[in-house]
Amino acid sequence: MSISKNIENSIKKSSWIRKMFETGVRLKKEFGEDKINDFSLGNPDLISPQEFNSVLNEEAQTSGSFVHGYMPNGGYLSTRQAVAEYLNQETGQNYSAQNIIMSVGAAGGLNVILKSLLNPDDEVIVIAPYFVEYDFYITNHGGKKIIADSTCDLLPDLKEIEAKITTKTKALIINTPNNPTGKIYSKEILQELSDLLTRKSKDIGSTIYLLSDEPYKKIIYDNNQYHSPVKFYKNTIIISSFSKDLSLAGERIGYIGINPQIKDAESIINAATFCTRILGFVNAPALMQRVVARVLSANVDISKYQQRRDLLYNSLIDIGYKINKPEGAFYLFPESPIEDDVAFVRILQEKFILTTPGSGFHRKGHFRISYCVENKVIERSIDGFRKAFQEVQNK
Ligand SMILES: Cc1ncc(COP(=O)(O)O)c(C=O)c1O
Repeated sequence: MSISKNIENSIKKSSWIRKMFETGVRLKKEFGEDKINDFSLGNPDLISPQEFNSVLNEEAQTSGSFVHGYMPNGGYLSTRQAVAEYLNQETGQNYSAQNIIMSVGAAGGLNVILKSLLNPDDEVIVIAPYFVEYDFYITNHGGKKIIADSTCDLLPDLKEIEAKITTKTKALIINTPNNPTGKIYSKEILQELSDLLTRKSKDIGSTIYLLSDEPYKKIIYDNNQYHSPVKFYKNTIIISSFSKDLSLAGERIGYIGINPQIKDAESIINAATFCTRILGFVNAPALMQRVVARVLSANVDISKYQQRRDLLYNSLIDIGYKINKPEGAFYLFPESPIEDDVAFVRILQEKFILTTPGSGFHRKGHFRISYCVENKVIERSIDGFRKAFQEVQNK
C-alpha cells in the first residue's frame, strides 16, 4: 500500500459511517430521492438571510487591485475588528482585532489551534458523545484524544473529566449547543468546569486551555439561553463559524477568538497566524470575510428549525421513544429502543429512514437525527419511525 498507514487506518475507522452514507446513495438511486428520508447529515438547508444576499451582491461588484489578493494571514483587519466588537458584546470581554484570526470554517479553526498548541503526545479531552472529526483533528497535530463520558443527561461529568486530567493534558474541547445532543451547557456547569480547570491547571503546573467549538451558538430554542464559556474561564479559545447560523457551510468561513486575558495570548495569536499560513489555508476566503463582517448579527430563520424539532420530538415521544429534549442546534439524539444502535439504524434504513448510530459519536445505545430537511420529509417519516419502534418491542 503506497498511502500513509495513518491515513489508511483513519479511513478504515470511519468506514462504517461511509457505509451508511453509501447505503443512502444506493437507496436513493434505487427507489428515488423522494422516497428516502435522509436525516444523516448536518448540512444546513435553510436559505441564507436576505441581508446576506444583498451584501454579497454589493461586495461582488467591488473591483480593483488585490480585492481578491493575498492578505495578512489572520485576515482583513476591518473584518477582525468587526468580529472583535461582536464578541465583546456577546461575551463582555475585551477582544481587539489582533485577538481574532479568520479561519476556514470552525474545522479549519480547530486545526489551526490544535497545531498551534500541541506537542507530541499532549492530551486533548473530548466529552462523549462528540463530533467525531475531533479525533482526526487531534491526531493531525500529534495529540492524543482522551474521552470523558458525559452524564446520563448528556451533560459534562465533572468527576469523569477530573479523572481524565493528567500532566499531559493540554486542552479540553467543548461544544455547546452540542452536536449530536442539542444540549446547552448551563451557567452552573460552566462555572464548575472553570473551577475544575483552574484547580487542575494549578495541580499539573500548566494551563489547560478550553477550546470552545461554537458553530451552533445562535441556534437556540424556547427561552433557553446561550452562555459563552469565556465568561467563566479566561483560558478559553473560541472557535466558531457561519456555517450553521448563516447556512454558509460550503463557503468555509469562521473565526478564532483568543481572549486577551488568556495565558500567553500573544504567542498563541502569533502561532495561530503562522499555522493558518503553513496548513495551506494561507488566509480565510477574501470575499466571505468582507461579507460576514457586515452581517454578523444576521441569522437564518431559527423558528423553522424549532418547528421541525417540535414536530419530530413530539411525534417520536408519542410513539414511545425516549429523548432528552434538545435546546439548540438541529439534532435529536434519542435512545435506541434496542441496545445495539447500529442494528436499530439498519432497521430504520429498511423503512427508508437514514440516521447515524450513536456509536459514531462514541455513545452507544442512541442514534442521531439531523433535521436539516423539509417538514414534509419529517411528516412522511413518522410512520417508519413507528414501525421500526414496534418491530423491536418484543426483541
Ligand atoms: C460540532 C461541530 N464542530 C465543527 C464543525 C465544523 O464546522 P465548519 O463547517 O464551520 O467547519 C461541525 C460541523 O458540522 C460541528 O458539528
